[in-house]
Amino acid sequence: MIREMRAAIFDLDGVIVDTAKYHYLAWKRLANELGFDFTETDNERLKGVSRVRSLEILLEIGGLTLDDATKSQLAARKNDWYVEYISNMVASEILPGAAEYLQKLRSRGIKTALGSASKNAPLILERLGISSLFDVVVDGNKVSKAKPDPEVFLRAAEELNIPPAECIVFEDAEAGIEAAQHAGMGAVGIGNPVTLRESDIIIPGLYALIVVSI
Ligand code: G6P
Ligand code: MG
Repeated sequence: MIREMRAAIFDLDGVIVDTAKYHYLAWKRLANELGFDFTETDNERLKGVSRVRSLEILLEIGGLTLDDATKSQLAARKNDWYVEYISNMVASEILPGAAEYLQKLRSRGIKTALGSASKNAPLILERLGISSLFDVVVDGNKVSKAKPDPEVFLRAAEELNIPPAECIVFEDAEAGIEAAQHAGMGAVGIGNPVTLRESDIIIPGLYALIVVSI
């Protein structure tokens, strides 16, 4: 389907920056403390998944069943470590082409938004020095339903005051592509052509869009 793009909504982790490695370090540290291992392959299952659900998957891998109070303590401990890691991030960690593509869209009058499940998104944008590249930031502090629910993207469209059908979502997670489709938005998949096959277009990274007119 050919659409006019009046607004572009970007996922953060895996699209603008590779924070998966920091999530991995923090989850692995927690798993090791609990007495089991957590591999990079296991970590693939956590991409685009909320913090609470990520912990549940981790505990499943370790074969542990814990009460809710303990689970929220563990999620908080993981987040403290994660925040420690991302506090040292620098602008060179922005994925290739991401800042340039955002600037290019803005110079053409296209609105830009962040649509991320992460509650740490504002800290990451600030550390990378790219907060001003987004007209609107919708993160895990503003929404309660995780992707594939379309809430995060619909909220971004609403704050931008642009109809969903004129928004295009840029996502690296299958659940995010599904969320874009539930929102009635176009979906550009970034990364794996197999897991992202439901996307309207698949590209390896935002750098691929710098030279073309999209
Ligand atoms: C993104 C990441 C997930 C992460 C989630 C919540 O969707 O892809 O791996 O679990 O955000 O992030 P947070 O920073 O709030 O724990
Ligand atoms: Mg992502």
